[in-house]
Amino acid sequence: MAKTMIELKNADLTLGQAAASVHVLKGMDLVIDAGESVGIVGPSGSGKSTLLMVLAGLERLDSGEIVIDGTPLHGLSEDRVAEFRGRNIGIVFQSFHLIPNMTALENVAVPLELANVRDAFEIARQELISVGLGERLSHYPGQLSGGEQQRVAIARALAPSPKLLIADEPTGNLDGETGKQVADLIFSKQAERDMTLVLVTHDTALAARCSRQVRVRSGEIVSGSGHEPSVSASLSKVASA
Ligand SMILES: Nc1ncnc2c1ncn2[C@@H]1O[C@H](COP(=O)(O)OP(=O)(O)OP(=O)(O)O)[C@@H](O)[C@H]1O
Ligand SMILES: [Mg+2]
Repeated sequence: MAKTMIELKNADLTLGQAAASVHVLKGMDLVIDAGESVGIVGPSGSGKSTLLMVLAGLERLDSGEIVIDGTPLHGLSEDRVAEFRGRNIGIVFQSFHLIPNMTALENVAVPLELANVRDAFEIARQELISVGLGERLSHYPGQLSGGEQQRVAIARALAPSPKLLIADEPTGNLDGETGKQVADLIFSKQAERDMTLVLVTHDTALAARCSRQVRVRSGEIVSGSGHEPSVSASLSKVASA
């Protein structure tokens, strides 16, 4: 049986204060095995990005449990969660989130250095070469195309060799062809490194490339939670009835 990478149990979260408060996650259950690729889909405002933030330990639940690779994040202090995230989780955002006054190489290397990784600059250089940016190491984000900036962000996410890669609309700011190339890169890295991938997308073609789709509506998972009986289990029930 495959190892469980993500287990979310009865996850509940309200964001904002008073009149502006929104019940964003309404008792979500979700199980994702190691090595799966999962596409989270659903309408705007349904809670997809918030769900990713919880999986990344960037947002805390009000109640419920979030266990990543056997570690209960809900039971850890903020510092320990940050440390866990740095070692185990890579994150890619729609708008790249690169530091404008750092070169491509520095954007990838500096987080490694801050985590006391030895040979940070050499690891960063190799990672940028592996995403096809060996000729752009000294470029600043403003000197790179959107697709190239997203490749830098992917190299930065992959540099610590995370077990889990989380991406929120990773192709959302790119044209169709560039988006496809970035998606190809993400899926090839996932296969090569045997990572678990969870991505949010509005692009049905991109979602269809994932091994499973999880559908979210108004803060609830309406299908694909991993808790439904599998087709084969249902069939065997029917057969034995
Ligand atoms: N800090 C906050 N305070 C109050 N409400 C918030 C906060 N963050 C998010 N929300 C609300 O929670 C809901 C879910 O937001 P979220 O960003 O998770 O949606 P989404 O599914 O990612 O949408 P989109 O597809 O547009 O990116 C939205 O209605 C949003 O307005
Ligand atoms: Mg979103």
